[in-house]
Amino acid sequence: MSLPTLTSTTGTVDFFVAPEDGSRAYQMRNAKLDTGVRDRNFGLEAREIKIANLRGNESTASLDKTGFQLVKQPAKHTSFTNEADIKKGYYGESAELLKKVTGASRVVIYDHTVRRRRPGEIDSSASKRQPLSQAHVDQTPKSATAAVHRILPAEEVPELLKHRFQLINLWRPINNPASDWPLALCDFRSVDPVADVAPVALVYDDREGETYQVKYNEKHKWKYFSNVTPEEGILIKCYDSVQDGSVALYTPHTAFSDPLTPTDAPLRESIEVRALVFYD
Ligand code: OGA
Ligand code: FE
Repeated sequence: MSLPTLTSTTGTVDFFVAPEDGSRAYQMRNAKLDTGVRDRNFGLEAREIKIANLRGNESTASLDKTGFQLVKQPAKHTSFTNEADIKKGYYGESAELLKKVTGASRVVIYDHTVRRRRPGEIDSSASKRQPLSQAHVDQTPKSATAAVHRILPAEEVPELLKHRFQLINLWRPINNPASDWPLALCDFRSVDPVADVAPVALVYDDREGETYQVKYNEKHKWKYFSNVTPEEGILIKCYDSVQDGSVALYTPHTAFSDPLTPTDAPLRESIEVRALVFYD
């Protein structure tokens, strides 16, 4: 007997609450070694959200429309334990995949995060990270542009910034389908791009980045793909220089604990690479 297809689930997710004293919001990039906590000066409120399952309707999501999309292509590189190996073995094929899907002329992968859920453990270093249920966008327009200046040779930047450019993450499960702690994404068409996000300084040891934290809004339409496999990936748009209203600007996203996950599902492991995506 086959089970009926479930079309939605729920999750409890943290949303941004502005600092009471009106000061500029910040969050540390790295957790404190003893507690695993990242210091911040803003509040978070936990809200239950409804999350629609796009399985069977995958093509309704696209980078331009919703801000995210599912891609199907197995990774050739499948070992994600060594940082240097990941850069050498996985960045190249990820850039090719992004080029193929977007039609971009140049893709530069510049960063990645491997996450492994380990209940009871703390995120005790920059490289040891777990899924987090906090709605966010990895970059703001300010930090997206700063990334281009930081990563590419100064003489190439002016020409590159004359054309369309985007910041896109490629998120992919490692070893097992991500039934445990999947990724929820907010359809950009349900987002008020000015009122629903707040820029928050992301404080590194030696520099400052900026993310968007997301305010709760009951109008938001959250979506996910159940059981994304290592042969698939999710493209998450974090920035687009086309800002005339014709395309999605970004996608709020978060991990969440899915009540539908079987109790014996393997703990989620995933890698996300961050890409600068340029067009002619
Ligand atoms: C990302 C992200 C969270 C997670 O890929 O940008 O925020 O739990 N991922 O994988
Ligand atoms: Fe993210």
